[in-house]
Amino acid sequence: MTKVKSAEFVMSNSDVAKCPKNRIPEYAFIGRSNVGKSSLINMLTDRKSLAKTSGRPGKTQLINHFIINEEWYLVDLPGYGYARVSKTSKKKFQKFITNYFEQRQQLVSAFVLVDIRHKPQPIDLEFMQYLGENGIPFGIVFTKADKLKPNAIDNHVDDYCKELLKTWEEIPPYFITSSSKKIGQDDVLDFINNTNEEIEALKNQ
Ligand code: GTP
Ligand code: MG
Repeated sequence: MTKVKSAEFVMSNSDVAKCPKNRIPEYAFIGRSNVGKSSLINMLTDRKSLAKTSGRPGKTQLINHFIINEEWYLVDLPGYGYARVSKTSKKKFQKFITNYFEQRQQLVSAFVLVDIRHKPQPIDLEFMQYLGENGIPFGIVFTKADKLKPNAIDNHVDDYCKELLKTWEEIPPYFITSSSKKIGQDDVLDFINNTNEEIEALKNQ
């Protein structure tokens, strides 16, 4: 079981060039507006309001770095697909976010969050495609699992995997979570911890 001993806000930014320079592993949380990115970050770190959350979509507007256990960065990002912006800007997605994904060398893995209640949405599948095309590893985090009964959770996840197998050869690592019921904390943290250990082992080879 992986423990978060310390979690601190470092900085907010809209320019990838100004993000922290330390070469430590970094994990970014991305997904539709309101899917629960900031809530997940608070759940993972056992902090009530480390990341700002809101019932209104569009709360997180910048690239937010948090340092965990003085070992790795966790990044909270703005959501995509915010319903109240125009179609063109929705399609374009904020340029600074794509710059972040394409230029941030410390990024080890992204986590794409999807609401477990919904069928696979084109916008999420397209974003995963984009990550794949740019060689960025990612996992899928299903959020708000408290909203479904256990058998419905299994069905929704199975359907999601079937959809992914239409375009992907392999299913990426995935995690079932609920921030309000604190489900999935260990799974996500263990994954990050194991990945960090693998990186360390490679460095020492
Ligand atoms: P933006 O920053 O606007 O892109 O949103 P976000 O993805 O960071 O979402 P945020 O964490 O702010 O949560 C959005 C809403 O969903 C809030 O009202 C949360 O309380 C709610 N929410 C988040 N996670 C969960 C969950 O696991 N279960 C339930 N029931 N509600 C959740
Ligand atoms: Mg947010």
